[in-house]
Amino acid sequence: MLIKRASDLKYSDITPREDYLNRRKFLQGLGLAGGLAIAGKGVADLVSPPARAYAGTKLSAKSPSPFDTTEKVTPPQVVTTYNNYYEFGTDKDQPAKNAQNFVTSPWTVSVEGEVGKPRKFTMDEILKLAPLEERIYRHRCVEAWSIVVPWIGYSLSNIINLVEPTPKAKFVAFESYFDRKQMPLWSRAGIELPYVEGLRLDEAMHPLTMLSIGMYGETLPNQDGAPVRMTIPWKYGFKSIKSLVKIKFVKDQPPTTWNITNAHEYGFYSNVNPNVDHPRWTQAREVRLPGYFKNTKTLMFNGYGDQVASLYNGMDLKKNY
Ligand code: MTE
Repeated sequence: MLIKRASDLKYSDITPREDYLNRRKFLQGLGLAGGLAIAGKGVADLVSPPARAYAGTKLSAKSPSPFDTTEKVTPPQVVTTYNNYYEFGTDKDQPAKNAQNFVTSPWTVSVEGEVGKPRKFTMDEILKLAPLEERIYRHRCVEAWSIVVPWIGYSLSNIINLVEPTPKAKFVAFESYFDRKQMPLWSRAGIELPYVEGLRLDEAMHPLTMLSIGMYGETLPNQDGAPVRMTIPWKYGFKSIKSLVKIKFVKDQPPTTWNITNAHEYGFYSNVNPNVDHPRWTQAREVRLPGYFKNTKTLMFNGYGDQVASLYNGMDLKKNY
């Protein structure tokens, strides 16, 4: 049995790389491209076998999702080799090289702060907490490049409802894993670490706000934020914090990494907004990778306005950039 149900799957079942490569050869012999098969969808067709830059464990996920974009999915080779993960280097190709031996098991995510039922979740618990869904989201980086990714996970609200936020909880603060030994380039990152992010509670509760544990039918590669990350498709990519270890419910707006680094250029909200340029470049257009030209029009809220615009009724989005 190559595809495990989430209920049987232990996160520690991560397939060793050699086994994975041998298995892939075997599957290719059988004519199954990359061995990928996720429920109801032909993502396998989008994955050319030699293009994989990581070895993940297959995840079976419900699809299609009502949140899916119909735009062309970006090849995984691009998504897994062109990354921002400053803990592993600031060049786009460095995370794929330097995060290869990052240890992501065992792993726990602590959910704490203003909640009635604080607790730590193991990855096995996170895997089984809610049915896994595949959602094809546009992902727009503040640097004006974008990709389209089939993420696997579920709405963060599943976890929030379990821990029961108190009436004092107005914001949610997120924190990434940080380890100087495993991330030797940390001192050249130019940002304070650990990487931190935040959302207003209603943004965190929005069904589009996703806790992602996989992409392209498999567990996340390290450079894309293994073993678990946030994906918030209407906000610039830097809000989507990787390798999550802490979710804390708080009263006040929490500090966020890029706002700490340069408050003039990066605000707390960071909603994709083609009408508010970055001080150093336009946000009206983007490069859809693997392209080279900024010839794709950027959409308000990255195209998710119908779902999320009401969260910002009455707010000046120029001031609250
Ligand atoms: N999370 C951590 N811990 N460290 C980072 O450097 N970079 C952010 C975000 N999450 C980052 C992070 C930025 S700037 C972007 S655009 C996205 O991750 C990139 O996600 P991707 O590499 O999967 O495309």
